[in-house]
Amino acid sequence: MSRSTLFSLALLACHVAAQTTSTCDPRHNASCPNDPALGSGVYNQTFTSTTTELNPNFWNVTSGNAETIQFGNNGAELVIAQSGDSVTAQSTFYIMYGVVEVIMQAAAGQGIISTFDLISDDLDEIDVEIMGGNTSYVESNWYGWGNTSQYNALYHKCDGPQQGLHNYTIVWTADQLQWIIDGNVARTLPYAKPGRYPQTPCMMKFGIWAGGDSKQPEGTIVWAGGKTDWTKGPFTMTVQSIKITDATTNTSSYSYGDNTGDQKSIKAVAGNSAAYNLINKKSAIQSAAATWNSLSTGAKIGIASGVGAALAIIVVVYTIVCIKQRRRGRAEKAIADAQWNEHTSELMEYKTLMAKGHFAVSHMGHGEKF
Ligand SMILES: *[C@@H]1O[C@H](CO)[C@@H](O)[C@H](O)[C@H]1NC(C)=O
Ligand SMILES: *[C@@H]1O[C@H](CO)[C@@H](O)[C@H](O)[C@H]1NC(C)=O
Ligand SMILES: *[C@@H]1O[C@H](CO)[C@@H](O)[C@H](O)[C@H]1NC(C)=O
Ligand SMILES: *[C@@H]1O[C@H](CO)[C@@H](O)[C@H](O)[C@H]1NC(C)=O
Ligand SMILES: *[C@@H]1O[C@H](CO)[C@@H](O)[C@H](O)[C@H]1NC(C)=O
Ligand SMILES: *[C@@H]1O[C@H](CO)[C@@H](O)[C@H](O)[C@H]1NC(C)=O
Ligand SMILES: *[C@@H]1O[C@H](CO)[C@@H](O)[C@H](O)[C@H]1NC(C)=O
Repeated sequence: MSRSTLFSLALLACHVAAQTTSTCDPRHNASCPNDPALGSGVYNQTFTSTTTELNPNFWNVTSGNAETIQFGNNGAELVIAQSGDSVTAQSTFYIMYGVVEVIMQAAAGQGIISTFDLISDDLDEIDVEIMGGNTSYVESNWYGWGNTSQYNALYHKCDGPQQGLHNYTIVWTADQLQWIIDGNVARTLPYAKPGRYPQTPCMMKFGIWAGGDSKQPEGTIVWAGGKTDWTKGPFTMTVQSIKITDATTNTSSYSYGDNTGDQKSIKAVAGNSAAYNLINKKSAIQSAAATWNSLSTGAKIGIASGVGAALAIIVVVYTIVCIKQRRRGRAEKAIADAQWNEHTSELMEYKTLMAKGHFAVSHMGHGEKF
């Protein structure tokens, strides 16, 4: 293959690796809806074998099936097994500068791409792309306004991205963008570098796809590291944890003040975001614990003998609801949630009655160990 053919293939490849459409591009439409912010909330999730699902409050599975995402000891497992398969999840919230840390093991397999990125409504994009057939390098890339004429990809040494968990962190500020791999700064992009620096609110996406699928254009297959052999599958990307911090706090949503796509035009709407409220919502058990802790010593002693029963109820209700949720699956999770709320309010009512002395038993001796 000649050098110029390789070059045009590389150009072709970056055309397909970038996201080229947006649901509503504020540079071309003044009525796009605001972007929900992460704001003061810190999204910090470690996935384990006991995780039951990718929380739909925070993630929208836009490609593949949410039900096919499994959870193992090392985290969330995104699996593709045949031509045409891909799995992509995108955050329901946006950040305006911030930090994204992903601990993951890329899928092995020629042509298989494990990736995560930040992407805005006007197609500013920041990428980490890991080829399944390259055991010593990972790729970083970025785009401004989805302009694929500029070739921004760089490769960075990484020892066995498919053989174990690695820490890929993007630190994105108004001044510079850094990719940090296992604690080492692999790349720094200053704002002033020629080209359109990413500077608009971004959602986070992660997923797995086959750039080496024979249905892909030849340039993509070359970029991905060669044709995928599906008989060697299934191919699994494992995400142990994702931590996302929004540099813009106390913000409920973002809007574009005009069609310039300039950071100065972005307006942060003050308030707590939906994501913040969800992340900081105390669980019923935490609220019960707080209520208990706020009681006076006398009140605690007074209801001492009732506590054993209250704890037993917590354990029983929790166990039943968990078993039910597991059996019923996603579709009926809402019903189980409602039952959980019902059981919890019954429990709270019971505790209130106990606190008022209705269930207090006269004998003492339990002490204050609870
Ligand atoms: C602009 O965005 C609004 C809201 O998403 C949509 O209803 C409308 O059709 C869009 N207009 C154009 C010209 O695309
Ligand atoms: C994020 O989660 C990890 C693991 O659960 C925990 O150790 C860490 O303290 C958390 N960080 C923040 C900022 O919440
Ligand atoms: C999830 O993605 C679908 C398909 O792209 C879209 O129609 C829907 O609005 C998204 N929901 C959220 C909460 O982002
Ligand atoms: C891995 O990527 C580097 C950087 O692009 C390249 O030099 C090397 O040939 C690639 N190795 C394989 C096996 O594709
Ligand atoms: C895209 O980037 C190229 C290379 O930097 C530049 O020449 C071109 O003007 C840009 N196109 C747009 C539409 O901004
Ligand atoms: C991942 O790397 C970032 C940047 O070096 C660091 O701040 C963070 O603590 C690391 N996370 C873990 C879990 O080691
Ligand atoms: C910003 O939000 C945090 C967390 O909700 C809150 O503690 C703080 O008071 C807020 N600051 C302002 C200036 O509203």
